[in-house]
Amino acid sequence: MLKVEELRVHFRTEFGVVRAVDGVSFEVERGEKFTLIGESGSGKSVLAQSILRLLPKNAYVSGRIIFEGRNLLELGEEEMRRIRGRKIAWIPQSQSSLNPVLTVGLQCAEPVMEHFKTDKKSALLKVARMFEFFGMGRGRISDYPHQFSGGMRQRVLVAMGISADPEFLIADEPTKGLDASKRKNIAELFEKIDKTMLIITHDLEFAERVSDRIAVMYCGEVVEISPAKEFFREPLHPYSKGLLESLPSRGLKPIIGFQPSMINPPSGCRFRERCEFAKKICERAPPESIVDGRIVRCWMYAERGWA
Ligand SMILES: Nc1ncnc2c1ncn2[C@@H]1O[C@H](COP(=O)(O)OP(=O)(O)OP(=O)(O)O)[C@@H](O)[C@H]1O
Ligand code: SF4
Ligand SMILES: [Mg+2]
Repeated sequence: MLKVEELRVHFRTEFGVVRAVDGVSFEVERGEKFTLIGESGSGKSVLAQSILRLLPKNAYVSGRIIFEGRNLLELGEEEMRRIRGRKIAWIPQSQSSLNPVLTVGLQCAEPVMEHFKTDKKSALLKVARMFEFFGMGRGRISDYPHQFSGGMRQRVLVAMGISADPEFLIADEPTKGLDASKRKNIAELFEKIDKTMLIITHDLEFAERVSDRIAVMYCGEVVEISPAKEFFREPLHPYSKGLLESLPSRGLKPIIGFQPSMINPPSGCRFRERCEFAKKICERAPPESIVDGRIVRCWMYAERGWA
């Protein structure tokens, strides 16, 4: 459905080149919920923005992003506009992206009218049905954003994202800032949505509940891709293990140290300064290994070099 190959996003800044995404490859299958996790600043949002081509001008992008047989990085702006919202939709991270002076119904109906060329009445009817499906009540389409709680506004954003019936949905931190019960509601909602999705989250309980596969990003690279069940049962990469062990339910043991700078990332394995298993060989970049169909980038799993 979506294939990302050797994607690099580098930003030119006055301090040097920020290698925000640095050689990332993965494939999202049709119907699957593929979730990116990783510490703040690891490149998750930049990766998502590069798929939608929403990056600022100082971004230098290379690699390929294949969607329905075409490389999105080579499409013209006009073609890209037709794909954005209609084929690939984006659920933004911030609830402030809702317009305060328009009813939520109209805001959700706009993409429907634009992409399907339908009139306002039938678009609003579609939105009303969707609100009902999402447990918000049809009548609420006439309300304004300020009349909704944080959790409800988040549902409105989800509704807005899928109103034009996109084939691929990208959700950047859909549970951010919500309390436990609202996070649970959003998880229930995501379980109901039968769409191919790229989800970005820090909320590992949410990730465990809704995802089919997990990709772990560290310092601009993907270090592990595993089916969610296996990942949460037994993560492979030392960084993945650290992320899970830092959860309150799994010992609350934080990973020591900080993610290195993306301007001058360390040579070799980028996690080595924080890794309790690091050896001399880790000064060289670890190859990608396949372990029971799972992908991991760590010398421990390499065929040669570790022993
Ligand atoms: N326009 C830009 N110019 C320069 N650097 C940028 C720009 N946008 C993002 N970056 C840098 O790229 C890196 C990755 O940022 P990104 O927003 O993708 O992180 P993230 O994984 O989404 O973090 P979070 O979990 O906090 O949202 C960061 O070091 C960030 O400072
Ligand atoms: S390659 Fe070495 S330093 Fe990197 S995660 Fe594996 S063991 Fe740790
Ligand atoms: Mg982000």
